[in-house]
Amino acid sequence: MTIRFDGRVAIVTGAGNGLGRVHALELAKLGARLVINDFGGSRDGKSGGSSSEAALAVVEEIKALGGAAIANGANVADFEQVSAMVEQAKAEFGRVDILINNAGILRDKTLSKMDMADFRAVVDVHLMGSAYCTKAVWDTMREQNYGRILMTTSAAGLFGNFGQANYGAAKMAVAGLMNMLAIEGKKNDIRVNTLAPIAATRMTEDVMPEALLKAVRPEQVTPGALYLVSEDAPSKVILGAGAGVFSSVRLVETAPVYLGGELTPDTVAAHFAQISDWSTAVPRDDANQQVAAFFETAMKGLKA
Ligand code: NAI
Repeated sequence: MTIRFDGRVAIVTGAGNGLGRVHALELAKLGARLVINDFGGSRDGKSGGSSSEAALAVVEEIKALGGAAIANGANVADFEQVSAMVEQAKAEFGRVDILINNAGILRDKTLSKMDMADFRAVVDVHLMGSAYCTKAVWDTMREQNYGRILMTTSAAGLFGNFGQANYGAAKMAVAGLMNMLAIEGKKNDIRVNTLAPIAATRMTEDVMPEALLKAVRPEQVTPGALYLVSEDAPSKVILGAGAGVFSSVRLVETAPVYLGGELTPDTVAAHFAQISDWSTAVPRDDANQQVAAFFETAMKGLKA
């Protein structure tokens, strides 16, 4: 099996720099036609942000490789601009098969020092940007009975990190968005996955040690991203990728424990070690599985 993207049309957001640029270049090398989205802003999204210059430079790189690409300067946090981007893609290429939600900004501060406008701006780009772009391509993918969508999360959201409350909240939220859309998209062969990358880019140049930066190139992450948007991709997967290393991440739940009908906080405290016995943990396919497990456990407990 050789993964190719001939005949496929892909939109990559934030593709003017860093990971998005490499995702786009590699997709183009494997035959995809590309929409290179980037609004050309600074790392915190506070300056620049209304030009497609960064996107145009990547389009030129793709054309120099013999590929097909157009530039788009939409701000992913603006639904009208994003809808126009999808119209532009369809007018130029006739369809949209792949969406990589990659655009992102950082405004790191501890919550005590954080301005709520900065909290909202980060959520707007990462969460609302991913939701807007996905909504804008969703009906087209449903009509085609084909779609591959990739969210971009972060270890900060999945596991926690100091000073990134806005970013972590938004990044965990895109994994939640995937959970829903992987289920809603299933009958139209729309597969939705999430990438948790580690790479040296302008976003990480001052948060990673120099030695680590040299070891983590975007080129080592992109093959994972491209697998997740390929024809035979899985769905509802979170893939960790960086430095040539890959992992799978998912939420699991311990075996439910019935503690009786009459409860006090002390009852929960007394059983907390049993409730938190991770050796019993399993993943859930969907919310109904959890509810069913709870009722089954309660029924057994009531009968005992
Ligand atoms: P980067 O700063 O090099 O690239 C991000 C690109 O997104 C920039 O070109 C920027 O202009 C564009 N962008 C930002 N806001 C936009 C908006 N509203 N509309 C359109 N374009 C916009 O950053 P990097 O590292 O390549 O990040 C890519 C994604 O990977 C982000 O979602 C980031 O949060 C995520 N990520 C990166 C990690 C890393 O180690 N580099 C770690 C975990 C997650």
